[in-house]
Amino acid sequence: MTLRLAEKMNTLGTETAFEVLARATALAQSGRDIVNLGIGQPDFPTPPHVVEAAIKALRDGHHGYTPANGILPLREAVVADILKWRGAKVDPADVLIVPGGKVTMFFAIVMFGEPGAEIMYPNPGFPIYESVIRWTGATPVPIPLKEATGFSFSADEVLAKITPRTRLIIINSPANPTGGVVPKSELDKLAAGLDRHPHVAVMSDEIYARICYDGEPHASLLAYPALRDRLILLDGWSKTYAMTGWRLGYSVWPKRLFPHAERLAVNCHSCVNAPTQWAGIAALTGPQDAVDKMNKAFDERRKVIVASLNAVPGFRCVMPKGAFYAFPNIAGTGLGAKDVQNLILDKAGVATVAGTSFGAEGEGYIRFSYANSLENIRKAIDRIGQVMAERNVRSG
Ligand SMILES: Cc1ncc(COP(=O)(O)O)c(C=O)c1O
Repeated sequence: MTLRLAEKMNTLGTETAFEVLARATALAQSGRDIVNLGIGQPDFPTPPHVVEAAIKALRDGHHGYTPANGILPLREAVVADILKWRGAKVDPADVLIVPGGKVTMFFAIVMFGEPGAEIMYPNPGFPIYESVIRWTGATPVPIPLKEATGFSFSADEVLAKITPRTRLIIINSPANPTGGVVPKSELDKLAAGLDRHPHVAVMSDEIYARICYDGEPHASLLAYPALRDRLILLDGWSKTYAMTGWRLGYSVWPKRLFPHAERLAVNCHSCVNAPTQWAGIAALTGPQDAVDKMNKAFDERRKVIVASLNAVPGFRCVMPKGAFYAFPNIAGTGLGAKDVQNLILDKAGVATVAGTSFGAEGEGYIRFSYANSLENIRKAIDRIGQVMAERNVRSG
């Protein structure tokens, strides 16, 4: 008997970075020297005091369910951290502890998405936004991010796309895959303009908030009091504390949305595993020197990779202002993004992700994650330079 799946399952997309990772791993296992600049996770271990806190929690007997919204000391630590870094006061009752940043976006999108609704999202952007929007039956409305503006957007253009059907706008700064940062002036304009559209909620994905460069402070949408009753903040531990495998994130919800989010959590995962929550407290309240060290290393690599990419024939790369991604324009190679991704994996042994994996607006670009050693970055871009130079010579 053929199994009959729900029609809806055909509309769910995926994150192709995981497919590239699988291909790169298979090539490495066959003996090829592969440099992986495809995966978006810090190449550092979780700070040891955080690991110890989880081990202690297990030894102390934290083995059972916790409240669905997370243990109170963790939510209090989140509130203190938000006050410190974003200057915003939050009630611990509005904080939901979730298993990773992705869960917040899933909850926010399913809460607002249905046929007839429109949800705006950055393109190129984190692929799960568009995937889940489509899955809910809502219409995805792209906010194109352009190289000319450092992959930011014009608030006026965003506001002009709002219709009576618009339910949710997703903003991501600093951004994946571009490393772009939306200037505070543009956020000011967006927040002011949204006054005229009280039917629109906003989800601000600020998972890279702590990874900002050139001394520019992170501008958070949580800092706009007028938006608070319709703003969902997404953040977590994955990137800041090198904790991608722990699955720990948090969201801040407007009071009127919180019960819906909590109900989704109860239906979905009950709670985040207890020892991880205790580790999360240690991460937020303990020494931050490991975070500073990682960010310093990312900054150094950022400068090296951008300079090297700009020396590759056919490549042109703007300086990213946040996160740990470079997003060079590869139009000068005469090839499409997917072809360049495959060419440099096969010929140069370097894993990257085609810009088109992040939406149609990503054509002509490739994402490099520079969460790798300087030595590997230099080796990788050198090899890509050689492949591209040889191609240029051959094509005359
Ligand atoms: C912009 C953005 N948001 C959210 C996430 C998800 O983070 P997590 O691994 O905590 O689910 C990622 C991960 O790559 C991301 O790049």
